[in-house]
Amino acid sequence: MKRILTLALIVAAGTLVAQSDKDYETWMKTVGGNMGPMRKAIDAKAGSEAAEAAKKIETQFGHIEKFWAQKSASDAVKWSQDAQAAARDIASAATSGSDANAAFGRLGATCKGCHAVHREKAPDGSWRIK
Ligand code: HEC
Repeated sequence: MKRILTLALIVAAGTLVAQSDKDYETWMKTVGGNMGPMRKAIDAKAGSEAAEAAKKIETQFGHIEKFWAQKSASDAVKWSQDAQAAARDIASAATSGSDANAAFGRLGATCKGCHAVHREKAPDGSWRIK
């Protein structure tokens, strides 16, 4: 009986964590889902499409910045700010028809940097916040 109770508690705690991180996962997936189309639009010189994807990415990193600010994780806040700035630069470069690749590189560097420190793989293969 005690064992069953303990198990039930562990499951309940896991569900709570999963729920509070649900918004975060949605933001991250929206970022991930817009990267490919944005890359393609940049290559195809489809400025307004690239800018549209970049703006969606910028918006997500606004939420993400607030999330990390609440956790007082200054490194993650900085990466979120850099990501917003890079996304803004991509949008303006793409719109004006200039080269967006440098800004794209800066955006990609924020993914790598933050994932290396704040992301870990759960036993079930999903990603979670560290
Ligand atoms: C400030 C930190 C931070 C930055 C910057 C960041 N990520 Fe993440 N990302 C995370 C964390 C933490 C997770 C794990 C939690 C999760 O998956 O919800 C994650 C998970 C993900 C996932 C998996 C989502 C899922 O749960 O299935 C994708 C896709 C992703 N990131 C894409 C990106 C891309 C693309 C960039 C850069 C444009 C980026 N991230 C930048 C912190 C960050």
